[in-house]
Formats: sequence, C-alpha cells, structure tokens
Amino acid sequence: MADTVLDVADLEVFYGNAQAIHGVSLTIEKGELLSLIGSNGAGKSTLFKAICGMVKPRAGAIRLKGQNTARLSPARITEMGVAMVPEGRRLFRSLSVEENLVLGGYVGRPGPWTLRKVYDVFPILHERRRYPATALSGGQQQMVAIGRALMSNPDLLLLDELSLGLAPVVIKDIYALLPRILGEGLSTILVEQDVTRAMAVSDHFVCMLEGKISLSGRSDAFTHDQISAAYFGT
Ligand SMILES: Nc1ncnc2c1ncn2[C@@H]1O[C@H](COP(=O)(O)OP(=O)(O)OP(=O)(O)O)[C@@H](O)[C@H]1O
Ligand SMILES: [Mg+2]
Repeated sequence: MADTVLDVADLEVFYGNAQAIHGVSLTIEKGELLSLIGSNGAGKSTLFKAICGMVKPRAGAIRLKGQNTARLSPARITEMGVAMVPEGRRLFRSLSVEENLVLGGYVGRPGPWTLRKVYDVFPILHERRRYPATALSGGQQQMVAIGRALMSNPDLLLLDELSLGLAPVVIKDIYALLPRILGEGLSTILVEQDVTRAMAVSDHFVCMLEGKISLSGRSDAFTHDQISAAYFGT
C-alpha cells in the first residue's frame, strides 16, 4: 500500500462526554476522490477536524503517508500536506483576495500551485484580487477558499460542503473546474449534500450515520435505495 495517502483506523472522537465518532476506519489512495456523505450531525466535519488535528481523537490512529498524526499540531499537519476548505469557508475577512491566497501558501510546500496557477483556474479572482474577500459573491468566496487551500500544495484536500448556500449555476461552474483542480495526483475527500452529485464525481464513497460508517464502497456499486437507507438509517 505504498500509495496510501491517508489511513484512519478505529477512530473515536468525543466532545466532552458526547461521542461524535465511533470506530471509523477509512483509507484513501493517491489521486483518489472519496465522497463523504451523511445527514446533519453524522460526524463528517468532526472527521475532517480530526484529520487536520483540530480535535484530538480519544482512540484510534490517523496515518498520513504512514506517519501517525494523532498527536501533531494542526500547523504541523498542514506542513505535512493536508489542507481543508472548511464549512462556511472562513476567509480572512479584513484581507484582500490575494492576501488570503498568499497566506494559504505560507507553509512553503513545493508543488504545482502558485498564485498564477490559481488565477489561471479562477480568472475572476485575478480580476478581483485587490477586493476585500468578503466583497465577493458566495461562489467567488468559495473559489478563494479552494485557491487558498491549493496554495499549500497539499497531498490531501478536504472539501467540506463545497456547494452549501450557492446558486445551482455557481455549483455547476465549480464542479466543472474540479477535474483541473484535482488533476495533479491530489487525493481529495469531498463532503457534499447533493448525494447524486457526490456519487457521480467520486471513485469511492463513505456514508456516515450517527458517528459510524453505515455504508462504503465503490460509488457505482449501490442502488439509490441502498444509499438512501444508509443515509437515513431506515
Ligand atoms: N464543537 C462541538 N462541541 C460539541 N459537540 C459538537 C461540536 N461540533 C459538533 N458536535 C456534535 O458532534 C456531532 C457531529 O457533528 P459534525 O459537525 O461533525 O456533523 P456533520 O456530519 O458535519 O453535520 P452537518 O452536515 O450538519 O455539517 C453532532 O452531534 C454535533 O452536535
Ligand atoms: Mg459538517
């Protein structure tokens, strides 16, 4: 398994006494796009936070290219090649578009992503580079968040609720760019509310329900009813 980028094994995460993740295991290979689906509160964002080191698991292992990251700081995990586009984007509100992007590159990891390449993929961001990030539309802000994550030249990109709150036409535009974004051997975990879309773009999927994995496998291997049962627990 030389090309396994992320290996999560028997993960248990708590907030105080409340358990949010129960024995979750998954792996992702180099260049793979994995969709992570599940209803509200299933534990998707918590799993992302654990992978980024923002919450510390009580048990289990998170291995990034073979190295256990469970006790490392979020900054160290970023240096090791994990970038997240968080739910709600969380741009630096007082900074310009370009300053947000440049900050994403502060870790100094070498790789294909530079300001020029981000502007090449998202020309509107070049046009608006001097604007405060918050002056942009929701879709453009999502592009800034994606660009900022790419600027760290990650090996593993975590996309949380990529299309939340965006107009259908904007969602279509962002998904149309996905092949260019992921075309560099990047491994990606995508949290997407639109299950049909999530299944269509991914190789494999994991469905979470109440902190556990209720179904996983190849994205083309299950019927709509099987996936719906795993999603809603019916
Ligand atoms: N900071 C926190 N403190 C306490 N409990 C939390 C915290 N964040 C999440 N939880 C709880 O952990 C569980 C998993 O939440 P999480 O946000 O990971 O779910 P999610 O799958 O991302 O949901 P959504 O689709 O709504 O974003 C929920 O029961 C939630 O209430
Ligand atoms: Mg979430």
